[in-house]
Amino acid sequence: MELFLVFSTLLFVSSVSSQDVPYEVSLAQLQACPKECRCPPSLPHAVYCDNRGLKRIPIIPPHTWYLYLQNNLIEVLPEQALRNATELRWLNLNRNKITSEGVEEGAMKAMSSLLHLYMEDNQLTSVPAPLPAGLEQLRLSRNRISKIPPGVFSGMDHLSLLDLQSNKLEDESVTEQSLKGLSGLVQLNLAKNNLRNMPGGLPVTTTQLFLDNNAIEKIPADYFKGLPNVAFLRLNYNKLIDGGLPKNVFNLSNILDLQLAHNQLTEVPQFPTSLEHLHLNNNKIKSVNGTDICPVPASELDGIFDESGPRLRYLRLDGNEIKPPIPRDVMVCFRLLRSIVI
Ligand SMILES: *[C@@H]1O[C@H](CO)[C@@H](O)[C@H](O)[C@H]1NC(C)=O
Ligand SMILES: *[C@@H]1O[C@H](CO)[C@@H](O)[C@H](O)[C@H]1NC(C)=O
Ligand SMILES: *[C@@H]1O[C@H](CO)[C@@H](O)[C@H](O)[C@H]1NC(C)=O
Repeated sequence: MELFLVFSTLLFVSSVSSQDVPYEVSLAQLQACPKECRCPPSLPHAVYCDNRGLKRIPIIPPHTWYLYLQNNLIEVLPEQALRNATELRWLNLNRNKITSEGVEEGAMKAMSSLLHLYMEDNQLTSVPAPLPAGLEQLRLSRNRISKIPPGVFSGMDHLSLLDLQSNKLEDESVTEQSLKGLSGLVQLNLAKNNLRNMPGGLPVTTTQLFLDNNAIEKIPADYFKGLPNVAFLRLNYNKLIDGGLPKNVFNLSNILDLQLAHNQLTEVPQFPTSLEHLHLNNNKIKSVNGTDICPVPASELDGIFDESGPRLRYLRLDGNEIKPPIPRDVMVCFRLLRSIVI
């Protein structure tokens, strides 16, 4: 997540600070700069209209790549204002009052170069459609979204980040049909919704899956069979019970970070050798048996070198019913363990 941000910022700085913007383009941008906005001559493709109390989107100059409209009172995304925004790459509409009915179909179509669309903290009830086909990041957290129109992601193979946290999605809204087309998805955030089951039909490319603060009780035994790339899995604040986690359900050879805090587990689940961070705090775990949870049989432990052995470095067990000390067999198995919180 943070890596994404850093990378994006670098990209942004390097593309806008290049000095090879033709003079005519800079001049045209300045002349067409809406009076409500700021168009700094040193950033000839950026238009700043944030925090102005705007109720409508001003007419945007044609060479705009980066458009900042966050923190306003905008209700509608009209076709007219964005008609000439064909070069737009980033659009920030966070913290406005846009409803799904207010998103005009033509507005989305016009933005044929759009890569990042941010519409957090608005009043959307559905994922906007149709979306610009080349989109790479779509951030829609903190709306009232309960619907993903079927086919809305069709052909969107560049979309790598989809953030839908803090919405009103239920199991029926997240299906193979609704997610179809996301063949390049890396991060999916469905935290703080109303899911009772693990979402279905996730793309095989999914690497980061965030499902915190839902009401999930169980994970089907073969759930991760079609998701071999999952490396970061967060299920904090759900209703997971021991019986809801079949043996070997986390058999994910690339998993690095597994977060199961604030659930109702009484035992430490099985996890694979690759795992580096495990959060199990605030469950109902009474004891830890290092022999039972060791991903490598005790008989093989002596023969392995650090790199091929269990990689667990960080383990949180606080907020359970475990009493110190840590059993010796935990240390014998997890030799790279640097930090354990009880
Ligand atoms: C779009 O661009 C055309 C040609 O440059 C111009 O005539 C028209 O007024 C512009 N429309 C808007 C809404 O900016
Ligand atoms: C774990 O997954 C691998 C494939 O990645 C498979 O070969 C193996 O049988 C699985 N193990 C268990 C215990 O399910
Ligand atoms: C841990 O589990 C192993 C095998 O399941 C068992 O032999 C051992 O006695 C257990 N250790 C403790 C401290 O209960």
